[in-house]
Amino acid sequence: MQAYSKAFAAVYDKKWAAFSHQVAPFLINFCASTEIGKKNKTVLDVCCGTGHLANHFLEKGYRVIGLDLSEHMLHYANENAREFVKSGQARFVLGDAAEFNLPERFGLVVSTYDSLNHLKDESSLLGCFRSVHAVCDGFFIFDLNTRKGLKRWNNVFVDDSEDVLIITRGIYDGEGDRAITRFTGFVSLADRSYQRFDETVYNTVFELERVKSLLLEAGFGKIYFARIQDLMTPLDKPEEEGRVFIVAGRQGVI
Ligand SMILES: C[S@@+](CC[C@H](N)C(=O)[O-])C[C@H]1O[C@@H](n2cnc3c(N)ncnc32)[C@H](O)[C@@H]1O
Repeated sequence: MQAYSKAFAAVYDKKWAAFSHQVAPFLINFCASTEIGKKNKTVLDVCCGTGHLANHFLEKGYRVIGLDLSEHMLHYANENAREFVKSGQARFVLGDAAEFNLPERFGLVVSTYDSLNHLKDESSLLGCFRSVHAVCDGFFIFDLNTRKGLKRWNNVFVDDSEDVLIITRGIYDGEGDRAITRFTGFVSLADRSYQRFDETVYNTVFELERVKSLLLEAGFGKIYFARIQDLMTPLDKPEEEGRVFIVAGRQGVI
């Protein structure tokens, strides 16, 4: 279980929105270019975090359901999309990506910023793919850190800014199935005091050919790997990327 804690959720909301801002236009364009994306404008964001990606879709008129295991991340998601939640265009639910049920059908399901690397093993990943397949009418697009990408995290990074100090320590031997990242630091609060946070997250290394097999086993049709800048073009050597996007379509949609 990798539900982010209260203090870390505050840090995440302040510091890590940029990735969503970067990937959102590509995901929205991809969705808008597909038949199913034009017909079914309801999006599921698995491991939605503080809802930054959801807001991009909401602003374009999509309905969004966000699912996350951390009530603290969902607190910010609800705050960040307050007006959309009030109008019923957005809904954020507490749930485990490895096994969930939802009553809606989705034209697009997304999961971004290496969230599915947080699942502990292939059985959890397959559970996630089956849960997504059961509600997905169109495409499932998610990204994963590859083994090569996780090797880059075997390092120490310091972010020393006015409102937050973050020391990130990544540990990965480059061979095993798990990379550990420890975040330690202080975040400023409204009363100008600082709160310390300590968060340890792990990233499971999933071999991409196995990921493809698990998606097929869950019932998806054509599956390919791509870069975010060009989601329509399959990559020949995805393991050579640091992070890769996986595009999986329901049988018959691609
Ligand atoms: C790196 S953050 C990404 C958040 C968001 N997708 C984004 O792009 O900013 C990973 C998120 O996954 C959530 N998470 C981790 N394990 C989960 C699980 N098993 N089920 C649902 N959410 C999970 C964490 O609480 C956190 O919000």
